[in-house]
Amino acid sequence: QRQLAESLHIVNEFAQEYFSHTLFETEEGQAVGLSYFQERGFSEDIIRKFQLGYNPDKRDAFARAALKKGYSIEYLQKTGLVVTRNGEPADNYRGRVIFPVHNQTGKVIGFGARILKSNDRAPKYINTPENQLYVKSKLLYGTYFARQAISQADECLLVEGYTDVISLHQAGIENVVASGGTSLTPDQLRLIKKYTGNLTILYDGDAAGVKAALRGLDLALEEGLNVQLALIPDKEDPDSYVRRIGAGAFRDFIRTHKKDFIFFKLEVSLEEAGNDPKRKSELVNQLAETISRINKTEHFTLQQDYIRQCSEILKIDEQGLVSLVNKHLRERL
Ligand code: CTP
Ligand code: MN
Ligand code: MN
Ligand code: MN
Ligand code: MN
Repeated sequence: QRQLAESLHIVNEFAQEYFSHTLFETEEGQAVGLSYFQERGFSEDIIRKFQLGYNPDKRDAFARAALKKGYSIEYLQKTGLVVTRNGEPADNYRGRVIFPVHNQTGKVIGFGARILKSNDRAPKYINTPENQLYVKSKLLYGTYFARQAISQADECLLVEGYTDVISLHQAGIENVVASGGTSLTPDQLRLIKKYTGNLTILYDGDAAGVKAALRGLDLALEEGLNVQLALIPDKEDPDSYVRRIGAGAFRDFIRTHKKDFIFFKLEVSLEEAGNDPKRKSELVNQLAETISRINKTEHFTLQQDYIRQCSEILKIDEQGLVSLVNKHLRERL
């Protein structure tokens, strides 16, 4: 098992070097891949730091190079780098820029491969399939580059995508990891907790971003994380936003806009409920459920604070909310 993981890792390492080399040293790499990154505003330093690459728009350029080097077809397929087309080995990432994914110790465990121009026929990103090395539910993109900064700042910023992480790094904001746009898993939350107890979610302001953010909340509270959230303005993501307004203004934006997740959720639901008393009572019930999930042993006063502030916002009786929270606690015993 361990040997298999090690073999996959060696194949990935070869591929990363091949893609980087192609990006910087070949004509197509420079003309297509490098100009793509440059147009996005990525500096050469940041491209090298994140070991970005390019795979040529050819049927099997990488596959042939890897096979010639003696890597087995079995491992090349397991890593998702090579697929079978018409019975022949072929590249999976053709004419795409490449984002290597590193584990916590900096080893390449997978790739995200982005199409150059979005279209409806092909997916924007092709990602490594699950294998012994690449387990999506357990990793967060950028952890290796961010972990020191996360510990130092005692805060982890969570964004959706590869390019958000990279742009923020380039802006000097390094305590940031990406979830790949999906909702957080317990393993990912535990990974964050290794470095800090403070999580700040910076998702897109679109409906999908809000939904993804809300899904992570109950889990994060159970893990005892202090979760805050700032939604990036509509039609932007952290990558486009930090490039537009600059690093200083971006930091200010986070500082002034982040709020406790629980109040964010409450505001969203309050807006939805309007004046409907039935929906408001349902909302109070859901809120009590969420509060009941706060890890009490680690955050003794937090739960009480939430109950007090939420009952103020909702203009309801504090003791009533306390009993509702306790009811949910009992239900899960
Ligand atoms: N994603 C994916 N497959 C897709 C679309 C998205 O895996 N077809 C993941 C990627 O990790 C991506 C993240 O979800 O980085 C966020 O998606 P999106 O916001 O659409 O992409 P961006 O990261 O903003 O990429 P870009 O700026 O290059 O469009
Ligand atoms: Mn998006
Ligand atoms: Mn989104
Ligand atoms: Mn983007
Ligand atoms: Mn995005």
